[in-house]
Amino acid sequence: MSEISNVPKIGAEKIQSGTGIKARPVHITPDQPIGLFDSGVGGLTVVKEIMRKLPSEDLVYVADTARVPYGGRSSKEIIKINVEIINFLMSKKVKMVVMACGTSSSIAYPVLKDEYPVPIISMIEPGSKAALNASRNKVIGIIATVGTVHSMAYQEAIRRMDPSARPLAAACPLFVPLIEGGFTEAEETKKVAREYLKPLLAEGIDTLIMGCTHYPHISKLLKGILGPHVALIDPAREAANLVLTTLKEENLLAENKKAQYEYFVSGSAPQFVELGSRLLGRPIAGAEQVKFG
Ligand code: DGL
Repeated sequence: MSEISNVPKIGAEKIQSGTGIKARPVHITPDQPIGLFDSGVGGLTVVKEIMRKLPSEDLVYVADTARVPYGGRSSKEIIKINVEIINFLMSKKVKMVVMACGTSSSIAYPVLKDEYPVPIISMIEPGSKAALNASRNKVIGIIATVGTVHSMAYQEAIRRMDPSARPLAAACPLFVPLIEGGFTEAEETKKVAREYLKPLLAEGIDTLIMGCTHYPHISKLLKGILGPHVALIDPAREAANLVLTTLKEENLLAENKKAQYEYFVSGSAPQFVELGSRLLGRPIAGAEQVKFG
């Protein structure tokens, strides 16, 4: 188990009080890895898209399974957790951080986006943009964690991009424990999903954003309930495009090479490796346990 020490730490308290330490210029090179994190296996939906779109990029992924779910935690807790994990990723010399977590993107991103010497990517803008492109009637449903829904991040981003749009959000707190438990095709998950989606469908949504990165793991099940006339949006697709354009702009795209993938987990490593391999659709060779906090 690796402990986090000797990491140049940006203090969570300072950041919360709005007096964050501004990014110090450091030398970043294209061969450094991209860092991604989530509370668990959710961010693997983002990893999958980045592996597909950017096969030469090395990735370092953190699954904070000791503290999953994030969805019901206070903003203060989410920001503190984000600072700990981003500091850890900085110690792994990442050239970019992808908040592969909707809850972190909606609560911590606005506070932390300029506090580090590397670009930080959130899921909110890409997800909103993809939904507006797909929608005809502009009645856009968002399913996400309680924290994401209450933050209004998606609702505000969509209205900012198109003031005529009507975003409607529903919190789905049971999905993350069901997915982390591996119940991605279970009848129980289907039942719960039907209940969560009913009010959104009754409002006439023609597009639905999976606003929590765990949810694309049950996209088949969701699609079955939504039917063919509702577009289902995985923000990870557009986020991978944003990663590509940002790396290009910053001259940080990796050269053609075979990528290396490293996984760190705060909970059980074997459990993450087993479920993660199944959900990622390719074997995760191993994960190292890491202690935060
Ligand atoms: N996958 C995360 C998200 O996108 C975290 C969900 C949770 O831990 O509650 O919100």
